[in-house]
Amino acid sequence: MIRPATMADVPEIHRLINYHAEYNRMLFRSHTNLYEHLRDFLVAVENHDNREKVVACAALELVWRDLAEIKSLAVDDALRGRGLGSKLVQAAIDEARRLRLTRVFALTREPRFFEKLGFRVVAKESLPHKVWTDCIQCPMQTNCDEVAMVIDLES
Ligand SMILES: CC(C)(COP(=O)(O)OP(=O)(O)OC[C@H]1O[C@@H](n2cnc3c(N)ncnc32)[C@H](O)[C@@H]1OP(=O)(O)O)[C@@H](O)C(=O)NCCC(=O)NCCS
Repeated sequence: MIRPATMADVPEIHRLINYHAEYNRMLFRSHTNLYEHLRDFLVAVENHDNREKVVACAALELVWRDLAEIKSLAVDDALRGRGLGSKLVQAAIDEARRLRLTRVFALTREPRFFEKLGFRVVAKESLPHKVWTDCIQCPMQTNCDEVAMVIDLES
C-alpha cells in the first residue's frame, strides 16, 4: 500500500535513505531534515504480524509555480525490482497533477528506470538555479554524474 508518510515513519524512512546513501546512490538526510519535510513524503508499507513496515519511500518537493522534484526515492534492497519504485513515482506524479503542476523532474543515476515511467533526459541548465541548492552538500559536487529527467504533465 502507498500512503502519505506520518511522523512515526521517520526512523524507517531515515534507515532506507541512509542505507542507499552509504552506497553513494543518494544524499543522506538527517532526522531533523525528514521531520521538516515529512509532508513531501509517500511511503510503501507492508503488513507483518499486524504491524506496518515501511519498505520504500519517495518525496515530491515543490520547487516553483509549475515544478516539483522527486527526491529520496529509496526501495528496501531486498524488495528492489518488484514495482514499488514505479508505484511511488506514479503516486508522486498523481499528487503533482492534483496540485496542478505541469512538470516533475528527477536528478538521477537511474535514467532507464525513469524513462520507463515517461521521463525524458533534459539539459541540466534547463532547470532553474534554485534546484541546485542540494549540490552544495553533495560529495560529487565537482564530478556530478546525475542525469536531469523531466516528465511533462497536462495542464
Ligand atoms: C531505482 C529504484 C528506485 C527502482 O525501484 P524498483 O522498485 O526497484 O523498480 P521497479 O520494480 O518499479 O522497476 C520498474 C522498471 O524499471 C526497471 N528498472 C529498475 N531499476 C532499473 C535500473 N537500475 N536500470 C534499468 N532498469 C531498471 C525494472 O526492470 C522495471 O522494468 P519492467 O517494467 O520492464 O519490469 C530502486 O531500485 C532503488 O531504491 N534503488 C536504490 C536507490 C536509488 O538509486 N534511488 C534512485 C534515486 S533517483
